Amino acid sequence: MIELSHIFKNFGDLQVIDDVSLKVSEGSVTALVGPSGGGKSTLLRCINLLEIPTSGTIRLGDAATEFSPGKKPGWDAIQKIRRQTGMVFQNFQLFPHRTALENVMEGLVTVLKWPRDKAESRARELLTKVGMAHKVDAWPATLSGGQQQRVAIARALALSPRVLLCDEPTSALDPELATEVVEVLSKLASEGTTMVIATHDLRLASRVADHAVFLEAGKVVEQGPADRVFGAPQHDRTRRFVSSIGAAQGGYGEGI
Ligand SMILES: Nc1ncnc2c1ncn2[C@@H]1O[C@H](COP(=O)(O)OP(=O)(O)OP(=O)(O)O)[C@@H](O)[C@H]1O
Ligand SMILES: [Mg+2]
Repeated sequence: MIELSHIFKNFGDLQVIDDVSLKVSEGSVTALVGPSGGGKSTLLRCINLLEIPTSGTIRLGDAATEFSPGKKPGWDAIQKIRRQTGMVFQNFQLFPHRTALENVMEGLVTVLKWPRDKAESRARELLTKVGMAHKVDAWPATLSGGQQQRVAIARALALSPRVLLCDEPTSALDPELATEVVEVLSKLASEGTTMVIATHDLRLASRVADHAVFLEAGKVVEQGPADRVFGAPQHDRTRRFVSSIGAAQGGYGEGI
C-alpha cells in the first residue's frame, strides 16, 4: 500500500502540489487526471522521489519518509522508496544502443547483480508478457512507438516493483498503437499489478483504473471509484473536464 499524507511541493514560490493525501491499495489502479499543469507528473515524480516533496509523508510498504522544508532525506531513505517503484514515461526512454532484451536485463544485471543467463530468462518472460517475444533482439529505433512502450513497461517491471508509475504512457502514440499499450496495462491490472497512471486519456483511465483522482492547480478536486468519477462526477469542475475530454475521444472497446 502507498500512502501520501499532506504532500506539498513548491518550485521556488510556485506551489505545484497543495496538500494532497491519497491511499493506493495493493493491486489497485489509480488514474491521475486533470488539466495540463495541474500537477499530475509532479505528484507521480514525488512518489518515487524524482522530485523531493517540500513537506508531507510518503509511505510505501514498510518504508515511510517524512519531508520538511530545508531537510533533505538521506540517500538510503530515497533508495528504499525508489527501489519499490518502476516508472514508465511518455517518451519511453529506452537505451538506444541496447536491444529490447538488453534494455529489460539491464537493471537485473547492474542493480540486482543477477547472472546474465538468469537475467536473460526473466527478461524473455517479461517481453513475452507484453507481447514482444518476437522482437527481443530488435534495436529500439526499429520498433514502433507502441512496441517501444511495451519494452519500457517490461523494463519497469523487471525489478518487481511494488508499484508501477506511468506518466502519460499512451500520449505519444497514435490511437492504434495506444490500444496495444492499453491492452498490456489492462492485462497487468487484471493480474493485480499496483499502478498509478497520470493520463489525459480517459479511454485508458476508464478501461484500467479502479480509482480516479482529479487534480487541478495542485489540489485534489475529487477522488473516488473511477466509474463514479468518470460516469457521475460530483463536482461541477470534474463534470466539465470529463465531458470536454470524453467528447473528443472514442473508446478502446470493451469496458467503456
Ligand atoms: N522542475 C520544475 N520547475 C518549475 N516548475 C515546474 C517544474 N516541473 C513542473 N513545474 C510546474 O508545475 C506545474 C505542474 O506541472 P506538471 O508537469 O506536474 O503538470 P501535469 O498535470 O503533469 O501537466 P500535463 O498534463 O501537461 O502533463 C506546472 O505549472 C509546471 O510549470
Ligand atoms: Mg504531465
